[in-house]
Amino acid sequence: MSKKLKSLPDLHWFYEASVQNVDNDLDVGTRIFKKHRKRKPLTVREDFCGTAKLAARWVERNKSHEAWGIDFHQPTLDWGIKYNVSKLSDEQRERLHLLCGDVLEAGTVPVDMAFALNFSFCVFKERATLLRYFKRVYEALNNDGLFLLDIYGGTESVMAKSDDVREIPGFKTPEGVKISDFEYIWEQAEYNPITHETLCHIHFKIPGYGPINKAFSYDWRLWTLPELQELLIEACFSKAEVYLHDFNDDGESDEIFRRRTTYENVLGWVAYVVGIK
Ligand SMILES: C[S@@+](CC[C@H](N)C(=O)[O-])C[C@H]1O[C@@H](n2cnc3c(N)ncnc32)[C@H](O)[C@@H]1O
Repeated sequence: MSKKLKSLPDLHWFYEASVQNVDNDLDVGTRIFKKHRKRKPLTVREDFCGTAKLAARWVERNKSHEAWGIDFHQPTLDWGIKYNVSKLSDEQRERLHLLCGDVLEAGTVPVDMAFALNFSFCVFKERATLLRYFKRVYEALNNDGLFLLDIYGGTESVMAKSDDVREIPGFKTPEGVKISDFEYIWEQAEYNPITHETLCHIHFKIPGYGPINKAFSYDWRLWTLPELQELLIEACFSKAEVYLHDFNDDGESDEIFRRRTTYENVLGWVAYVVGIK
């Protein structure tokens, strides 16, 4: 008799566990905001929010915090409402506002910090569209607001490769399903040097469940740091800054982000680009 297969918990659990570190994002944003503005940021907008993990964490961190999250995919927002929002108190939930809409169109009250993370804006492949998006964000910021986005690069970012494997600590879902440590694999399946278009996939290898191929796929334009800085200035930001990490003894990012104007041309890096209104 065949053994009954366990049903796999929703893939968003695996995505959040392997890709997101919202406390680090919020800490970096807060530190840069305080450096420039000599006050604490209070309001945050998470664009491309997906499961709204960052927005939910922001309202949880302090009772003076308020957050907005925008995503145009209602089922992903619903998953976030079920797992990231429902665990908040009623009072915290009142300070969190999720909108199902297109970031190119949606309007929110002005905020202190806007985030567009995990390279989500790379879905915009046309320069004019990315500029339009940056202008929308500019309008959605307070007069002393900051916009933080992230981008990856390095000599290996512009080639097809599938050997980027990380071991991710296991976790337990609220339904009590225990997941052992699992593998996250980042594949750059295609890269076109003429357009900088790239097709990437996230695969997982999960003990007890096997390989989950193409759990998430991304059809992007890989924007460069100078393009992003120039577009931010064109969108009326007064300054655009780049923050980059160093490497620990294992060759991994040390996750400490400092402002840089020069950087060694290493194999791979992830930068925060900050538009200062
Ligand atoms: C890579 S996920 C990002 C999830 C999460 N915020 C993170 O940082 O990892 C990209 C999300 O962007 C959303 N998205 C893509 N284009 C969008 C648009 N034009 N307006 C709003 N949401 C969009 C998708 O529905 C998806 O949930």
